[in-house]
Amino acid sequence: MANSMQGKAALITGGSSGIGQATAVALAREGAKTVITGRSTSGLEETAAKVKAAGGETHALEADLKDPNAIEPLVADAAAAFGRLDYVVNNAGAEGEVNVVADQRLESYEDVFATNVRAPFLIMKYAIPHLLKQGGGAIVNLASGGGLVGVPGASIYCASKHAVMGLTKVAAIDYAKQGIRVNAVNPGGVDTPMLRKFFESIPDAGQRKAAREAFDATHPIGRIATPEEVADAIVFLCSDRASNIVGIALPVDGGYVAN
Ligand SMILES: NC(=O)c1ccc[n+]([C@@H]2O[C@H](COP(=O)([O-])OP(=O)(O)OC[C@H]3O[C@@H](n4cnc5c(N)ncnc54)[C@H](O)[C@@H]3O)[C@@H](O)[C@H]2O)c1
Repeated sequence: MANSMQGKAALITGGSSGIGQATAVALAREGAKTVITGRSTSGLEETAAKVKAAGGETHALEADLKDPNAIEPLVADAAAAFGRLDYVVNNAGAEGEVNVVADQRLESYEDVFATNVRAPFLIMKYAIPHLLKQGGGAIVNLASGGGLVGVPGASIYCASKHAVMGLTKVAAIDYAKQGIRVNAVNPGGVDTPMLRKFFESIPDAGQRKAAREAFDATHPIGRIATPEEVADAIVFLCSDRASNIVGIALPVDGGYVAN
């Protein structure tokens, strides 16, 4: 399977850490060149070093995806980096704040929707013409278990990830005949900076440990995922091995949504 993506180029948003970083490395192992975007220079450099160590080539672009005007030039730069665009992984995401609905803030809603919904919409809008030029391609949107079921206290995040599912399904239908496959990956808990930040926000060490153990227990497999396990699913959905898979939600969650 190695080098099955030789000659292809991918754009990965949020490539400076977590699932995005693992995806850049996994795509590099398959022979694809990657363009990674993010806000952290040091994180992008770390990813570039890991991709290089895996024998791949990457090009980093710094951008804040909350700025809608930044996205068209970002996609143009990404497509120009290796002269083509075959895969898009809409991975960057914001977790929002944990609170009951009446205590959620409008600012948090706007922040989360700008990153989790508007940005992937605009990335797809501007990237699809490039994919069509190559005769097709694949788009993978990072949704979440929270895009399929409700997670207590996470109304804004869940609403945004359900919106990602809507975007994914309709984009999949719109472009199925033109050779672009659009799918979503729906992780449960994944050991990344995003999830660590969430647990670190619990000040009491005992409560933090108990909350983490209770969270792990909601996954029938008894543990959360590694970023590499999610990256494997993303690479599969990009690859020709997924040639008949269109518009799906693929849980990578140790049984979380089956429970
Ligand atoms: N970690 C989990 O438990 C989990 C579970 C389900 C879904 N997800 C989803 O997976 C995706 C990746 O998250 P992760 O867990 O790897 O977290 P992470 O914090 O390691 O990575 C998130 C990435 O998104 C980037 N990002 C966030 N806001 C941005 C913005 N405005 N502009 C540019 N970049 C921005 C960050 O810089 C970072 O690179 C997210 O969409 C997240 O919602 C994560």
